[in-house]
Amino acid sequence: MPDVASAFDETEYAADMPRAHQTRRAVLVTALAAGACIATSGSAKADDDRPGSDERPQKDDLLVFSEGPQSGQVLKPSDLKLGGPPVHAWPKDPKTSVIRNGSRLNEIIAIKLDAAELDDDTRARAADGIVAYSAICSHAGCPVTAWVKGEGSDKNVLKCMCHNSEYDPRAGAQVVFGPAPRRLAALPLAVSGDTLTVAAPFAGKVGVSQSG
Ligand code: FES
Repeated sequence: MPDVASAFDETEYAADMPRAHQTRRAVLVTALAAGACIATSGSAKADDDRPGSDERPQKDDLLVFSEGPQSGQVLKPSDLKLGGPPVHAWPKDPKTSVIRNGSRLNEIIAIKLDAAELDDDTRARAADGIVAYSAICSHAGCPVTAWVKGEGSDKNVLKCMCHNSEYDPRAGAQVVFGPAPRRLAALPLAVSGDTLTVAAPFAGKVGVSQSG
């Protein structure tokens, strides 16, 4: 029987598979990983089988809302309120209009913060104070969903409710509380007028494998 470490690797593999093929493997991996969370987000699925839908975000991609009443609509800088809450989004290929929702590892959290609060590395990846990170918790792969006061802090943090890991988006989403082994992958952004785009691929490891 695989150990938990190999189950983590399997989890990452399962998460990278087209969503339609994930269910049986997901059930198996959940049992092996003793609580690892690999639930899919239940977001848009129409583009799962379209070429490019499972490719990682690329330079010049747009972002679209992945949930809520604006699901599928392009996310603009003006949609984000200073100080949060964060918005969950998918990358979208501007040439083919394919939304890259074929892998849950592509889901992103975008949030607008006071640029003066960002550390140097984070500010370099931000655009007008907007920062973006992978929405997948590095502990066991749950989606990072909450924007709440951090443990022992008066500032809000990104929080995964599965096992309470907290990430500081002002400091490259480093782990500030909980069992997560490493920070969330960061997605560099660019703003031109009221258009928000991806400036470069993810910096850092996406998913739950414990290396990288
Ligand atoms: S999956 Fe365990 S804290 Fe996120």
